[in-house]
Amino acid sequence: MIIAIDGPAGAGKSSTARAVAKRLGFRHLDSGAFYRALTYAALRHGMQPDTWDGLDPARLDALRVEGQPSADGFRLLCAGMDVSGHLREAEVTANVSRMAGVAAVRDWLLDRLRAASRGVDLVADGRDIGTVVFPDAELKVFLVADPVERARRRLVEHGRTQPDAVDVRAERERLEARDRLDSERAIAPLRRAPDAVEIDTTGLTFEEQVDRIVRLARDRAEELSR
Ligand code: C5P
Repeated sequence: MIIAIDGPAGAGKSSTARAVAKRLGFRHLDSGAFYRALTYAALRHGMQPDTWDGLDPARLDALRVEGQPSADGFRLLCAGMDVSGHLREAEVTANVSRMAGVAAVRDWLLDRLRAASRGVDLVADGRDIGTVVFPDAELKVFLVADPVERARRRLVEHGRTQPDAVDVRAERERLEARDRLDSERAIAPLRRAPDAVEIDTTGLTFEEQVDRIVRLARDRAEELSR
């Protein structure tokens, strides 16, 4: 079974997907982490973002980015080194949408993301999981939340206990700028699949949003077994 969770930046997709996968005993695939690992690797190789449009499969192979299956998800490796700790750095976040807009990058990753799903039950999260990567996913969820709430949560996640209004506004602008790039690009833009269940998490606790998806997944599994 594949559960696809898509939505804008900061809607809580990855943490929710991880918790849902844990509750159901599925593997978690954070597709954004793969785009981030490629971005990190390209920056580390000194490749300027304005040259990334010229990336081809051979250059992408040379970055040696791979997702190694772990107990519950995938560890992102770059030339054999675990780069998980670098993926949320500001420079990576600021440039990742540029990497994700390159057609050759999306093609290259598509094969790898699909290969990761073979033979396992999966909860995958990203922007185009339900529309492009796994259009036949048994359950599709589109997570949304109010932009101020998304910005506040993101800051809390980064260790700020009580972010002030100025910081929340700046973070909101960064999230919305990334959403614009992700929604307006020509290939595989951020879109809600027509058959996705939309969940607005603004007024929900984390446990409530996880519970809802787990319940939907169990209902769907029951429906399929009939
Ligand atoms: O989910 P996360 O914020 O880690 O994703 C980082 C970036 O990777 C997104 O802003 C988007 O540009 C790209 N992405 C994508 N398609 C996906 C997952 C992520 O384009 N399925």
